[in-house]
Amino acid sequence: MAKDDEPAFSASGSEGTPPVDPETAVGPDGRPLQAREPAQPAPEPRDETAGRVAEPVPAEAPAQPDAAEERQARQQVQQAEKGAEAGAIPSFEVTLRLRRYNPELDDAPHWEDYRVTVHSTDRLLDALHTIKWEQDGSLSFRRSCAHGVCGSDAMRINGKNRLACKTLLKDLNPDKPITVEPIQGLPVEKDLIVDMDPFFAAYREVMPFLITKGNEPTRERLQSQKQRERYDDTTKCILCAACTTSCPVFWGDGQYFGPASIVNAHRFIFDSRDEGADLRLEILNDKEGVWRCRTTFNCTEACPRGIEVTRAIQEVKRALLTRKV
Ligand code: SF4
Ligand code: FES
Repeated sequence: MAKDDEPAFSASGSEGTPPVDPETAVGPDGRPLQAREPAQPAPEPRDETAGRVAEPVPAEAPAQPDAAEERQARQQVQQAEKGAEAGAIPSFEVTLRLRRYNPELDDAPHWEDYRVTVHSTDRLLDALHTIKWEQDGSLSFRRSCAHGVCGSDAMRINGKNRLACKTLLKDLNPDKPITVEPIQGLPVEKDLIVDMDPFFAAYREVMPFLITKGNEPTRERLQSQKQRERYDDTTKCILCAACTTSCPVFWGDGQYFGPASIVNAHRFIFDSRDEGADLRLEILNDKEGVWRCRTTFNCTEACPRGIEVTRAIQEVKRALLTRKV
């Protein structure tokens, strides 16, 4: 059939739908539409009050709360109160005994006590902030990330090197003063701040960067998983100095390279892509190098990153003896 001969209506019944003649139109059941009964009008809503005598209502009748509703509301309040109690973070008081030193005022460092209300979720860093912001703005300490990443808030807490931002107060005995002092073996600049220059000078000496002999690759320097695992532990160092400043050998004269430098030398000595291992091993073969380590394990205990520092030092010693990496 030609397109012009097609009936002029569409499935949607819109524009081309022929007009319906109500006289002749039939429904889907074949019955004429007119034969159907007209639609019944909707019944009027029943008047429930019809026939009743209206009772007088006081003009301002107070709404009487239903007893059950009242009981339910009371229960809800009680439950909310209980929930608030259960969710509340317990607080307690602690005394922080801080080692204070201001080179412009003091001849020597001294201890000062501060009483602080803390919560069980607080870290030592939070208590130090409370003291600085609410009690004594002259208190000085370093911190940056507050999440154990930057390594700037290593301090000696109750006699052990730790990061203030990773030390929960609830894990320390609140019945006794908590002692906080600067890490040892480095010159104190003010309060809990030490001069980190000697620490970073030793770090730079071991050349903590990839050394290659100029053979520029045309793509990434590939490394197998096993080769990467070889030095994985020592990549975690955040240079907080907690290990070096817990080492009695370092305390002695400050000349020893210290665990942190050796850890960072290890990170490159055992990297399969690096070609500077011999150079670094020779540097650490110095009288102030790895041979000064007395394996006291203080460094391993102090490391907030869980690096097996003493083991790394032993591996460097072995590499020096065998000249194998
Ligand atoms: S080895 Fe551990 S303790 Fe030592 S500087 Fe690195 S992160 Fe800090
Ligand atoms: S503040 Fe960065 S490690 Fe603690």
